[in-house]
Amino acid sequence: MAGSSFGTIFRVATFGESHGPALGAVVDGCPAGLALSEEDINVYMERRRPNGGALSTKRRETDAVEILSGVFEGMTTGTSIALLLKNEDQRSRDYAKIKDVFRPGHADYGFDAKFGFRDYRGGGRSSGRETSARVAAGAVAQKFLQSLNIECRASLSRIGNVDASDLEACSFLIEQCRVRGDSVGSTVSCSVSGLPAGIGDPVFEKLDANLAKAMFSIGAVKGFDIGEGRRAAELFGSENNDAFYMEAGRIRKKSNHAGGILGGISDGSDLNMTVYFKPTPSIALEQETVTRAHLDTRIRIEGRHDPVIGGRAAVVVECMTALVLADALLLNMGARADRIRNFYGIE
Ligand SMILES: Cc1cc2nc3c(=O)[nH]c(=O)nc-3n(C[C@H](O)[C@H](O)[C@H](O)COP(=O)(O)O)c2cc1C
Repeated sequence: MAGSSFGTIFRVATFGESHGPALGAVVDGCPAGLALSEEDINVYMERRRPNGGALSTKRRETDAVEILSGVFEGMTTGTSIALLLKNEDQRSRDYAKIKDVFRPGHADYGFDAKFGFRDYRGGGRSSGRETSARVAAGAVAQKFLQSLNIECRASLSRIGNVDASDLEACSFLIEQCRVRGDSVGSTVSCSVSGLPAGIGDPVFEKLDANLAKAMFSIGAVKGFDIGEGRRAAELFGSENNDAFYMEAGRIRKKSNHAGGILGGISDGSDLNMTVYFKPTPSIALEQETVTRAHLDTRIRIEGRHDPVIGGRAAVVVECMTALVLADALLLNMGARADRIRNFYGIE
């Protein structure tokens, strides 16, 4: 299947299905000399892992990463970094009932229409579990960004129409979902500080275009805003423009409606992004659907599913952002002839 690799210089290929023996990623193009350990990556894996809490599936996913190559004596060598995540706790029997039935809201029908058959156990490549490989790769990108003093953080900001900081209202909403056998949508906010001005490109490789593509490649993402995002369509120019001013010899902006990118290129202020997730498609409530043999039927989905996706997906958003930025930073190294001459020591 095409489409399993991402990036130009800092390039990642992922592999594996949720109920196969393992998933993983190969990161190519990571510069040599970066300190990297399995522990560095596992901190991120831990944030994505189901923890049995209210927002997450009861599935157990150990998700400890094994570095197979590209690191020697704790430092990246500049060669490809292979990352392996073995699958555990696979209960494929939970999925036997959906073998010949298309789950509403999931990838089953499209996958079947394209390939003629599918790995129905947990959604195969369309499973939320697929995102664990991106997180492992993105953790390497995060290490690279941190070495440049760039900080990238994402967190769940809303569950349905409730602010995530209102814990009581959130618990009530989740409990309602659990009792009804339903799920609910969510919103993740991501921000990046320390990104220098001048990163990105003006046309097809616009930084915001590449971030949008990265976000929409995550399962269940249905919307992406940068800065004011879609709200800018309701503003006047005088409200939406960010005034420039000088401070201690540096160009600054008085506001950040742009969210840190102008003309596809970073403007030196924080990147502020919002990512919108639909409700988890697998719900216990009975739904109408059809079989592969084109018969109308009804389905009640069993198995262990996240009632809200944004809780576990925040770190996926963070890691996909880090992958886009690591690539853009490396691509930028070739932007100026004078700097290239300087790098090679030519007067
Ligand atoms: C971290 C994460 C966890 C997910 N968990 C589940 C889940 O437990 N059950 C489910 O049906 N979908 C889950 N999804 C969503 C499906 O992967 C996604 O909705 C499906 O592939 C269809 O793709 P689309 O929603 O982008 O159209 C999850 C997605 C992510 C990013």
